Amino acid sequence: MNDKTNAQQWSENIGSTGRALLDEWGPQIDATSDLAELDRIRVGLIGKSGVLTQKLRELPTLPPEKRRDAGLELNTVREILEKKLSDIKLKLESIEFDNILKQEYLDVTLPCRPQQAGKRHLLTQISDELTLYFCSRGFKVFEGPEVDTEFHCFDGLNMPAHHPARQEQDTLYIKDAPGKLLRVHTSTMQIRAFSTCGLPIRGISIGSVFRNDAVDATHTPLFHQIEGFVAEPGITMAHMKYCLLDLLSFLFKVDLCEMAERGEDIPVRFRPSFFPFTEPSVEIDCCCSRGNDELKLSMDGTWMEILGCGMIHPNVFKNCGVESFADGTPAQGFAFGIGIERIAMLKYGVTDIRHFYDGDMRWLQHYG
Ligand code: PHE
Repeated sequence: MNDKTNAQQWSENIGSTGRALLDEWGPQIDATSDLAELDRIRVGLIGKSGVLTQKLRELPTLPPEKRRDAGLELNTVREILEKKLSDIKLKLESIEFDNILKQEYLDVTLPCRPQQAGKRHLLTQISDELTLYFCSRGFKVFEGPEVDTEFHCFDGLNMPAHHPARQEQDTLYIKDAPGKLLRVHTSTMQIRAFSTCGLPIRGISIGSVFRNDAVDATHTPLFHQIEGFVAEPGITMAHMKYCLLDLLSFLFKVDLCEMAERGEDIPVRFRPSFFPFTEPSVEIDCCCSRGNDELKLSMDGTWMEILGCGMIHPNVFKNCGVESFADGTPAQGFAFGIGIERIAMLKYGVTDIRHFYDGDMRWLQHYG
């Protein structure tokens, strides 16, 4: 066991050269009050062509009998000065941090000045607009948990165990809670609403959904969806088509009746698609072009996918224990799902999904 203190060992190893170095550089380091200055000292001492580095580099040229002691001495000096540099660096960093805290101190108890008042986030704004729109058309709002079960997220929605979306690379499962996960879509709310409220039903649900995606300009692990569902006797795909055309005309501020009078069609296409919980399934694309600050529906723009929808699969009703209406006719209806960020990005020309979550006040002031 080594019972000598570092200081004892150091003083034994250090001769006149080491002492001179310590006397020259030690006080300089101690006197520094600025991080940039401290770094200049570090470079001058132990940088690539620093004084101490040079001396260490010369060691192999010394006669063998002197080399060992000189090496020990220089390395001890280096150890002492490096420790000093890092101690002072920590001290200066903490002073700098305290200064920043003092400068940026915000008294949250002060009354707010009008020009500093916050604005509603673009996503909240669009969610509120959509809620109002659907409520005025007789839809009820359903809210449900973000941590949900495999049954509500997959099995109930006719997505069998081998379905790719259930793989861990897409779905975030909760550790130590078997069968629990972060919902990958708001379609979970179809299952919850049908099984708790029965039929007929007309509802929407807006909320966060989660996918195991790496963050880039078009993906974030958390985003928002609105789910809509209508199950009433006599509901057909034609109702779904009208409902969604009307929604798009609301979102893009076009008047369907005026367009019809002018003999124009809304530039929308219904493309066959596949979702396990709807049959037939459809994806809707809009043809959009940019005008001023907002996106406009127009035939000479580019086609963009905007939402997924379809007629609710009979198995979904069966899984919720609602196979028929009160009059005995089989359960039928349609459902749709839309990404809120997607609408916001299309409508307001937001090019990077990360902006929604940056919390940048200038962005919020502009878009809020
Ligand atoms: N849940 C689907 C998705 O996340 C969207 C959808 C909802 C499609 C309802 C059809 C019906 O992509």
